[in-house]
Amino acid sequence: MPRIYIETYGCQMNVSDSELMLGVLARDGYVRTDDPADADVMLVNTCAVRDHAEQRVLGRMGELKRHKRPGDVLGVVGCMAQRLGPTLLQRVPHVDLVIGPDGYRDLPELIARARGGERAAEVEFKSWEHYEDVPPVRGDRFSAFVTVQRGCDYRCTFCIVPMTRGPERSRKLADVVSEVIGLAESGTTEVTLLGQTVNSYHDGEHDFADLLRAVGGVRGIRRLRFTSPYPTDFTPRVLDAMAATPAVCEHVHLPVQSGSSRVLKRMLRRYDRARFLEVVAALRQAVPAMALSTDIIVGFPGETEDEFQETLSLVAEVGFDDAFTFKYSVREGTPAVRLKDHVAEEVQAERLERLIALVRSGAKRKNIGLVGTTHEVLVEGRAKRGSLLQARTRTNKIALVEGPDDWIGTYRRVRFTGTTGSTFTSWPADQASREVVAP
Ligand code: SAH
Ligand code: F3S
Repeated sequence: MPRIYIETYGCQMNVSDSELMLGVLARDGYVRTDDPADADVMLVNTCAVRDHAEQRVLGRMGELKRHKRPGDVLGVVGCMAQRLGPTLLQRVPHVDLVIGPDGYRDLPELIARARGGERAAEVEFKSWEHYEDVPPVRGDRFSAFVTVQRGCDYRCTFCIVPMTRGPERSRKLADVVSEVIGLAESGTTEVTLLGQTVNSYHDGEHDFADLLRAVGGVRGIRRLRFTSPYPTDFTPRVLDAMAATPAVCEHVHLPVQSGSSRVLKRMLRRYDRARFLEVVAALRQAVPAMALSTDIIVGFPGETEDEFQETLSLVAEVGFDDAFTFKYSVREGTPAVRLKDHVAEEVQAERLERLIALVRSGAKRKNIGLVGTTHEVLVEGRAKRGSLLQARTRTNKIALVEGPDDWIGTYRRVRFTGTTGSTFTSWPADQASREVVAP
C-alpha cells in the first residue's frame, strides 16, 4: 500500500484540510505514515498569513528533500501553494506538485503525473467546492473539526486569506448535521465548527444561529465550539442560539486586531473600539462566565505609540483569557502594502514584547483567581512532558491531572490546585482527600 506523509502548518482549517486530503488519498489505497523517510508521497500543508510561516516551510522543504527517493513525490499544498502557484515549482526544484485549497480532489491525478515526470500546479478557485463526498480521515475520535464554510469575502487590508482561499461559501446545514450525526455515532462528543468568519455562515436558507441549534441538538454532542467568528456577526439571533444551546462552550475566540478605532479603520475591520466592546458585553451577557481569547496585530502601517497604547488599554479593559499576538507582516498583493508609514521592525518587536507581558499578567491574575474552583474537563491525552494527562475545560483552560490512560476521551470533574499562569494543575474532584496530602 502506498504511504502518505502530511505535515500541517497554520490554522485549524489546515488541520481539517489535511484530514480531507488523507480522505481523498484513502480512496486510492493510501495509508498514513508519521515518518517522511517511509513515505511515497510527502505533502506540506502551508500557511501564507505571515512571511515567517512561509520561510519556515521553505526551510522545511530543504530538509524533506533528504527523504525523497527516486519515484517519491513531494508536494506543497494549502495557502502558500495557492499564493505562489507555478512560481513555487521554479523556486524549489525538488517540488513536484503545487495544489491550492480548492484543488485537493486532483491530488491522485497530480501525483500520477508527477510519477510520470511532470511537475504541475493546480490553483484554480472552485466556489462550489466543499468536498462533500470525501470522508475526512481524522486523528482524534472524541473531538472533531468540521469545516462549515470555506473562503472569505471580507477584505481586511492586511490579510492574504481572501486571495488564498477564494470566495466565501457555506455548506448546506443538512450536510453538516448528517456529518456530525455520523461523528457522534462513532464516539465523537466535541465538535469545532470551522470557517474564516464562521458566524457569517449562511447556506441560503439557514444562518449560524440555526446551525448552532441543529449541531448542538445532535444526540451525543456534549461540547460545541466554533472558530473564528467575526465580531460584528454576532447577531441577536446567534447570541440567543448560543445561550439556548447547552453544548455551546463558554469560550469564544474573538479576533480584535487592534484597540484603536483609527487603526481598525485602516485595517477595514467593520467595527470600531466601542462597537467591539459592545460585542464583548453582549457575549458575556448571553453566556455568563464566558472566556475570551483574541488575535492582535502590532505595528500595522501608520500605528503610532498612542494608537498602540489604545490596544494595551483595550486588552486591560476586556481582560482576555488569552491572546495570539503578531507583528504585522507585509503580504504582497494586499491593500495594506500601499499604506504609508510602515513601522520599523525594532518598534514592532518592542511593542510586541510589551503586549505579551500585559496579556500574560492579565491571564495569570485571572487564572490565580480560578485556583480552588471545580470544572468539567475532557481528557485529551498524555501531556507532552511528564506522566500526567492533559485535559481541557469548556472555557478552554488546560489542566494537568493524574490518571490512567482509559480516561482519555472521557469527561471528568477536577479541582484546580495551582497554576503556572497559563495552565493548571488539578486533582479529580471526587478525590479531595488526595489533594490534602499532596506535597
Ligand atoms: N478569519 C481568520 C483570520 C485568519 S488569519 C480567523 O479569524 O481565524 C489569523 C490571524 O493572523 C488574524 O486574526 C490576524 O491576527 C493574523 N494576521 C493575518 N494577516 C496578518 C499579517 N499580514 N500580519 C500579521 N498578522 C496577520
Ligand atoms: Fe482575513 Fe479578515 Fe477574512 S482577517 S480571513 S480577510 S475576515
